[in-house]
Amino acid sequence: MSIACYEVESIQTSQGEVFLEGPVKTAKLESLFMNRKLTNFRPAAKQKEALIAISKLPEGMVYIARHGLEIIGYLTFHYPDPYSRWSKHPLILELGGIEISPDWRKYGIAEALLKEAFSNPVLENYIVVTIEFCWHWDLKNSRLEMFTYQKMLAKLFGTVGLKRRATDDPDIIEHPANVFMVRVGKHVRKDAIDLFEAMLFENKLF
Ligand SMILES: CC(C)(COP(=O)(O)OP(=O)(O)OC[C@H]1O[C@@H](n2cnc3c(N)ncnc32)[C@H](O)[C@@H]1OP(=O)(O)O)[C@@H](O)C(=O)NCCC(=O)NCCS
Repeated sequence: MSIACYEVESIQTSQGEVFLEGPVKTAKLESLFMNRKLTNFRPAAKQKEALIAISKLPEGMVYIARHGLEIIGYLTFHYPDPYSRWSKHPLILELGGIEISPDWRKYGIAEALLKEAFSNPVLENYIVVTIEFCWHWDLKNSRLEMFTYQKMLAKLFGTVGLKRRATDDPDIIEHPANVFMVRVGKHVRKDAIDLFEAMLFENKLF
């Protein structure tokens, strides 16, 4: 994958200018600080290690929201886990975690970071999927009820063309609030789309 298309945008917030950039190289990630409240998926230090590890993958891409030298939010792309059914498709890329520090939420940073990432033309060659597990949602800080949070996420990801799809993937159907969303890049060929469509339901009775 060519990830040469490095872009930087910025938005103004009441706490100052926030830069949205990526795919960020390993050395730059190593040089930045992690906001200490980026703990949604794991402790902030471990999350930084995870971002660095993703940046080293051949297909891995890390986009960050940065205030000065501090990472205040991020999103990642990587191939699906080898155990998942989606890893059997050659052109599927997973939009992994997206997280904005609770100190910086509701400024439009997540939406702007998604927009920035999806302006990378390399994504037009892929079927991007995202699997939203409800046990990862920050219901406490957001003060949203689970299905309201689900709607908020579906709308957020919808801003860059991801659409909800039904599937019998056991990871998704494990909980009714989990969401599977998909965006088919403009240059993905029909045979690759057909293969993806056939993979959505693997447990048909007939
Ligand atoms: C989900 C998350 C990334 C949103 O980040 P954010 O920067 O606050 O989002 P934005 O400011 O770009 O808001 C996007 C939209 O969601 C809405 N929204 C975000 N948080 C909301 C909240 N707590 N209550 C109501 N609406 C909310 C915004 O109003 C906005 O909608 P609008 O365009 O109609 O105004 C952030 O809450 C987060 O990091 N959560 C924990 C991790 C997580 O749940 N990741 C996703 C699933 S893995």
